[in-house]
Amino acid sequence: MSTLDDLYRRVIMDHYQAPRNMGELKDADATIQLKNPTCGDQITLQMKVEDGKIKDAKFRGQGCSISMSSASMMTEAIKGLKVEEALDLADRFSKMMLGEDVDTSDFEDIEALQGVCKFPARIKCATLAWKAMEKGIKEHHCDHCGEDHHHE
Ligand code: FES
Repeated sequence: MSTLDDLYRRVIMDHYQAPRNMGELKDADATIQLKNPTCGDQITLQMKVEDGKIKDAKFRGQGCSISMSSASMMTEAIKGLKVEEALDLADRFSKMMLGEDVDTSDFEDIEALQGVCKFPARIKCATLAWKAMEKGIKEHHCDHCGEDHHHE
């Protein structure tokens, strides 16, 4: 195993063992429950959005180290971002999971998950929290940011 893989594995385990932003958000604007269809594991993501910005985010759930660490990293990364910035981050994250070359300059810990793209069975673990975030923004927050996010 290369040193970089080892470092990435340690970052993932650190987020798994000491997840950031785990818990319940009392005054959430959006609560999204999403299930990983492959394993049945579930995550609940809550977000507080004000003036088009994500003020706070918390998650709860059960899942493997990849899904839980990804949720921890994602919630940490989106706090303080504008909703469109968070969606852009999610877009680049899913492209990274498809093995595409994307700008990861602002990824920080998230970059540790890039190796997951080599394990197709685990990609849905890594993207679970991100899909929940995208769903929450698209379904609930257009009135907060005043943007048309094209409802699906
Ligand atoms: Fe269930 Fe990864 S195995 S989320």
